[in-house]
Amino acid sequence: MKLTLGAISGLLVAANAASIGPNAVQQVLGTSPKQPNFIFVITDDQDLKLDSVDYMPLTQKHLKQQGTFFRNHFVTTALCCPSRVSLWTGRQAHNTNVTDVSPPYGGYPKFVDRGFNENFLPVWLQNAGYDTYYTGKLFNAHTVDNYHSPYVNGFNGSDFLLDPYTYSYLNSTYQRNQDAPVSYEGRHTVEVITEKALGFLDDALAGDRPFFITVAPVAPHSNVNPGAIDAEVPTVMTEPIPLDRHKDLFPDVKVPRTEHFNPDEPSGVNWVRGLLKQDEATVAYHDLFYRRRLQALQGVDELVDSLVTKLEASGQADNTYIIYTSDNGYHIGQHRLPPGKTCGFEEDIRVPLIIRGPGVPAGEEEEAVTTHIDLVPSIFDLAGIPLREDLDGTPIPLPSAAGTVHTRHEHVTVEYWGMAYLEGERGALANPNHTPFILNNTYKSVRIIGENYNLYYSVWCNNAHELYDLTTDPYQLNNLYSSPDAVQDTNAELLGYSLSEVITRLDSILLVLKSCKGSTCIKPWDVLHPDGDVQNLQDALGSQYDEFYAIQARVSYDRCERGYIVESEGPQEVLSYSRYGLSWDAWV
Ligand SMILES: *[C@@H]1O[C@H](CO)[C@@H](O)[C@H](O)[C@H]1NC(C)=O
Ligand SMILES: *[C@@H]1O[C@H](CO)[C@@H](O)[C@H](O)[C@H]1NC(C)=O
Ligand SMILES: *[C@@H]1O[C@H](CO)[C@@H](O)[C@H](O)[C@H]1NC(C)=O
Ligand SMILES: *[C@@H]1O[C@H](CO)[C@@H](O)[C@H](O)[C@H]1NC(C)=O
Repeated sequence: MKLTLGAISGLLVAANAASIGPNAVQQVLGTSPKQPNFIFVITDDQDLKLDSVDYMPLTQKHLKQQGTFFRNHFVTTALCCPSRVSLWTGRQAHNTNVTDVSPPYGGYPKFVDRGFNENFLPVWLQNAGYDTYYTGKLFNAHTVDNYHSPYVNGFNGSDFLLDPYTYSYLNSTYQRNQDAPVSYEGRHTVEVITEKALGFLDDALAGDRPFFITVAPVAPHSNVNPGAIDAEVPTVMTEPIPLDRHKDLFPDVKVPRTEHFNPDEPSGVNWVRGLLKQDEATVAYHDLFYRRRLQALQGVDELVDSLVTKLEASGQADNTYIIYTSDNGYHIGQHRLPPGKTCGFEEDIRVPLIIRGPGVPAGEEEEAVTTHIDLVPSIFDLAGIPLREDLDGTPIPLPSAAGTVHTRHEHVTVEYWGMAYLEGERGALANPNHTPFILNNTYKSVRIIGENYNLYYSVWCNNAHELYDLTTDPYQLNNLYSSPDAVQDTNAELLGYSLSEVITRLDSILLVLKSCKGSTCIKPWDVLHPDGDVQNLQDALGSQYDEFYAIQARVSYDRCERGYIVESEGPQEVLSYSRYGLSWDAWV
């Protein structure tokens, strides 16, 4: 247990207080060392799949080469605010019900209404003895009008970007502690946040308690100019603006021309299938957009360098974890999509996750499936804080403070409600209706990666289905569930089983996951098989379970809603398997 300053003050007086700090005092007393510090860098809309990290040499040098890169890390909702609320509360969006960027379904006001301002990571960390700091974007709809009603809880120091200026690279507004908002008109937002982050790091390093600092720059999110957000005209999200010294970098770089880049045949289902093929001018603009993102990330790369340099100079690097990630991924041109997120494709749900720190292997890549919901449990575990039962995730493979080995999982629960946004000046052109947003982008899916399989299964609010076998179809161009007939085709096989048998298992696990809570999110097969005989998809494929899975209710929707309206979301209950086949019990 960590000693409080009060408890050691007597000793401090007795010793030479100027030359002996609390750490040394703890060592003298033979107590455990100070809990580890954390520096958490979260970028905005940074992809993994479009290779953005390859263009960040300093981040590679300090973090990737000094730490572990999690190759199979996913977000659970591919949109800023819901993803961030899930990240900082450790809950799936269906358990936060913060599912959108603005009220009534999301944004900072919804976060407050749901009671999370008293119940999220920084508050928990302060209670566990941490000093906490945050600078940059916290949530959407956290504005120059509502920042004080109430103030964000849980931080010893904060300096938040506020709407409607959050995404204005050259006219941002930041709001420090309980002070009035300050405009940084004419300065680049990444330069401003770098100063603020280094200042907080100084404060944190000078303190006696362990610290947790979050730095949340907006790069490489689209630029959105002030004024546009409240206007009647739809907001146009234009390419990000790099620091001046980076604006000519990578002149020849283009969006990778993979098979699914602007394909000749439409792909996906629902509105994605209706997208128009992009013309040459649009493709050229999207290449520029891609370069602007890489250029904008150079400022973040330098920010990482400054943080690590200061940390190393302080002598506390050995007791500090640095975590680098993003709030959601990004696509540009794949499946004919203009720039944006909000989809369940690989580009949108995979994000970089790099962790360096005490005991974390350097220069390694980790294959385990991990999600943003796992990060709060992971931070607790590293800090030696007991896990809360209401967390929907489980610690990722890292050196546990208590030496505990935690449950691994092969599934990711992906969920989305509401609109898709078509970003960039030419985004609306992709849509036959020429609007820069699309309604009815409501779906849920399960991404599952096991030893012998690599699948994505989704059900949309119009009851369209998708199933991709990423082992043979890494670009998700061949939907195996293109129609009910395709599924019933008895010749259709997947993983050596009939396609319909695989689908019944995927559908049932999705039925569990779409309303899971706590442990049922971590070990969902236990709900279907309480006897514990089935721990993964492979186990569930056993033919003795064919009949059991055939009679389960199916995931479906009655209609499309913009938020989590349970009544619109079809069956909620699964049957549980009894080894003797005598009774199948309903589970809610
Ligand atoms: C940080 O805030 C916590 C909770 O209010 C408080 O106990 C702690 O003393 C603060 N740390 C500093 C350095 O002021
Ligand atoms: C920059 O933001 C301030 C508010 O913070 C606003 O008054 C001003 O008009 C903005 N400038 C531009 C060029 O949009
Ligand atoms: C969206 O879904 C609603 C409810 O399911 C439906 O009435 C409406 O026609 C759909 N709109 C579009 C543009 O698909
Ligand atoms: C989620 O929030 C919306 C908007 O407040 C509300 O209508 C809905 O009932 C909530 N869903 C759940 C499951 O509580």
